Amino acid sequence: IKRIGVLTSGGDAPGMNAALRAVVLAAEHYGIETVAFRHGYQGLLDNDHVVLQAKDVLHILQYSGTIIKSARCKRFKDAAAAQEAAANLDALAIDALVIIGGDGSFRGADHLANHWQGKIVGVPGTIDNDLYGTDATIGYATAVNIAMDALDKIRDTADAMDRVFIVEVMGREAGFIGLGSAMAAGAERMILPELQKDKPLTVAALVKHIKRVQEIRGEGSYVMVLSEHQWPGGAVALAEQLEAEHHLPCRPCLLGHIQRGGAPAPADRILASELGVHAIELLLNGEHRVMAGKKANQCVAVPLPDTWQKKNPLDQNLLRIQHEIFNPVKKDRRT
Ligand code: F6P
Repeated sequence: IKRIGVLTSGGDAPGMNAALRAVVLAAEHYGIETVAFRHGYQGLLDNDHVVLQAKDVLHILQYSGTIIKSARCKRFKDAAAAQEAAANLDALAIDALVIIGGDGSFRGADHLANHWQGKIVGVPGTIDNDLYGTDATIGYATAVNIAMDALDKIRDTADAMDRVFIVEVMGREAGFIGLGSAMAAGAERMILPELQKDKPLTVAALVKHIKRVQEIRGEGSYVMVLSEHQWPGGAVALAEQLEAEHHLPCRPCLLGHIQRGGAPAPADRILASELGVHAIELLLNGEHRVMAGKKANQCVAVPLPDTWQKKNPLDQNLLRIQHEIFNPVKKDRRT
């Protein structure tokens, strides 16, 4: 391998820059040139590329976002687009490609592999932590940290005003950010996709729980974490419903894209640095169509389709602790 391509794709994640830096440094270490494509797969189609050397990426790991930009590229799903990308890669004499992104980006990588002869390795970059085969994805630790910080702040005002709060977090179809931040900040309730699938929460059950907790504790502060897409109309609609129909003073708070910014947490910088290097070493070992992951303290290679076809479950022990040990209402197993 003499020349590799690299791109960041899909929703940006804190630590993507650290992963890019590691890819470029490792490539240079092994005598490989790195060509970065800007704006994800769109850059492959537009041939929007730039050669990156170590000196270009040395001091980027402390920033979220991605210096080579990211994008969601719908057109890349077409066979014609993948063929175009393959032709552009061949014209630049690129032997292998590193894709830093989440499940959509990995589907794109696998699709490209059907039309291109070069080797492809993925690096898991998404705040959602929803990729099978790695204990954590790059960006997840930072997102949980940001959500925890917001929940701590909300708690101050919830305590002061004896109010119910609903904090809506990201995560797409997975409850990792919800569970992690609820646990880290001691939230009274979590509404997570995995729990909703099993047994959707009714407003009546929620109101009953809120009132019971307030009664047991003798105060009104009650903070709930709601994963996005898990309530029609989201946190705002649920708060309005609680206040209008049940006379419960309640305020919504949507964290949104704040969860993707700021300084990446140490865990994300370190994971990104390790997996960026691992990606290059996997390529040098002849691996293809795999994700560079970390499982039980070992660097692993996971077949790309497994990363989205198989699912990492939520930590069952954390769920048990939240539901049973930390729940003041002993008969309600759903908090
Ligand atoms: O996949 C990362 C993520 O932040 C999800 O948590 C969220 O649902 C989505 O991206 C938001 O996408 P966009 O930035 O395109 O609005």
